Amino acid sequence: MLETNRPPRNKGFYVRMKLLHSMRNNRNPEKNFCYRFFKIIIWFSILLYFFSSFLITRHKPTISRTTIVQSKPSRALFQEPSINFSALKNSHGPFNGMKIYVYDLPPKFNSEWLSNERCSSHLFAAEVAIHRALMNSDVRTFDPSQADFFFVPVYVSCNFSKVNGFPAIGHARSLMASAIQHISSQLPFWNRSLGSDHVFVASHDFGSCFHTMEDMAMAEGVPEFLRNSIILQTFGVKHKHPCQDVENVVVPPYVSPESIRTTLEASPLTGNRDIFAFFRGKMEVHPKNVSGRYYSKRVRTAILRKYGNDRRFYLRRHRFAGYQSEIARSNFCLCPLGWAPWSPRLVESVALGCVPVIIADGIRLPFSSAVPWAEISLTVAEDDVDKLGEILAHVAATNLTTIQRNLWDPDVRKALLYYDRMLEGDATWQAMEALSGKLDRSHKKSSVYSQ
Ligand SMILES: *[C@@H]1O[C@H](CO)[C@@H](O)[C@H](O)[C@H]1NC(C)=O
Ligand SMILES: *[C@@H]1O[C@H](CO)[C@@H](O)[C@H](O)[C@H]1NC(C)=O
Ligand SMILES: *[C@@H]1O[C@H](CO)[C@@H](O)[C@H](O)[C@H]1NC(C)=O
Ligand SMILES: *[C@@H]1O[C@H](CO)[C@@H](O)[C@H](O)[C@H]1NC(C)=O
Ligand SMILES: *[C@@H]1O[C@H](CO)[C@@H](O)[C@H](O)[C@H]1NC(C)=O
Repeated sequence: MLETNRPPRNKGFYVRMKLLHSMRNNRNPEKNFCYRFFKIIIWFSILLYFFSSFLITRHKPTISRTTIVQSKPSRALFQEPSINFSALKNSHGPFNGMKIYVYDLPPKFNSEWLSNERCSSHLFAAEVAIHRALMNSDVRTFDPSQADFFFVPVYVSCNFSKVNGFPAIGHARSLMASAIQHISSQLPFWNRSLGSDHVFVASHDFGSCFHTMEDMAMAEGVPEFLRNSIILQTFGVKHKHPCQDVENVVVPPYVSPESIRTTLEASPLTGNRDIFAFFRGKMEVHPKNVSGRYYSKRVRTAILRKYGNDRRFYLRRHRFAGYQSEIARSNFCLCPLGWAPWSPRLVESVALGCVPVIIADGIRLPFSSAVPWAEISLTVAEDDVDKLGEILAHVAATNLTTIQRNLWDPDVRKALLYYDRMLEGDATWQAMEALSGKLDRSHKKSSVYSQ
């Protein structure tokens, strides 16, 4: 549960105050009886009102995201939708009956890295989160002969540099290669399909290229040994790019659902948002030429130059542990590209109800079938950042509340968060949903059909 339930008490309180007030002015016992009777009737109607509104919200769990235009935040905002068991228990079971075998690899490939707590909580931790959720899920099968897909749990993003604390992924390719060496020598399934029904997570900047710098990533491309497989990766662009030259699903970066819950407890979605536009993160005043490329293609520098002294913009360059509470206070949250187009800000903004302003040309966003990005975010071209002020002011004066209501749909928030136990509609669930669209790769399914 992300949200605490907040029963709308105010009305009942108001009525009770009025009743108490009139009863105090009334000494006549007969009239007093009338008031009691009246009070019971009032309470009964209030209960009936809430019960029926509860039924109505329950019976319409999929209020279209585009048409939420009530004048008050609805109860649905504060409730996680219940699981639709009839959808799960259709003739094939969930995900068309898809089953996944999770390889049990030696600890050096995964669990050993968890001795560092950051391994399961930093922005690249989707590799850990998806593995965890699969281990406890009904999609998992312990019998590889029954599996459609084979999940290879290798954590490559947890070798934190002793110098700057960033994940060093120089070892990633060789770690992956030795994992494949291990599974292909132990069991027949890799060799059977040459990896085409095997699933990996690549959750750092340039996904399956395993490099932090784009030019190096592009030059090396997806390692040969992974090219037949399916990669769940945070990197995605709409144009052709060597780092997505492989069957892939774009997944969101990891943001701890626990941290979101804690932040929302302190500052609820519909609370006061006193910051107009927010960004905290690396913004170089004088961007460096790193082998021909500039951080954020100099977009962040342009934002800082133009809006650094604009009072509507709350721009900060330094790290601050409490930044989530700033997002929760903001109307617009800028999500400009860094080295890679994606950033954890996308997820944090959505989860904390701040309209993401996506500034990353050509970015491919995660789970577009579940998350109506066009209705919950704004996209500003990299070349247009010097018009941000006008663009945002125009939206604030016209459709900001519409976008916010769309954004505050709990289903949207859930689709971008990974829970330890997979929930219907959460990020792991969406990834599985996407995988189930690739069942034509399943050896099991194709042997069933060919019989
Ligand atoms: C539950 O799922 C089934 C099958 O997908 C669907 O027909 C039905 O409308 C859903 N029920 C609700 C309440 O959403
Ligand atoms: C972790 O990264 C460092 C620096 O890149 C490298 O020297 C080391 O071998 C890596 N550790 C493992 C276990 O791969
Ligand atoms: C898979 O193929 C490799 C390379 O051809 C071979 O060394 C290995 O023994 C094979 N694995 C199995 C389980 O037969
Ligand atoms: C950036 O550096 C590259 C070489 O690393 C050089 O070819 C290029 O001209 C530089 N660009 C600018 C604008 O200085
Ligand atoms: C809000 O307005 C902006 C600018 O006019 C437009 O680009 C955007 O699509 C609108 N969004 C919604 C959800 O109506």
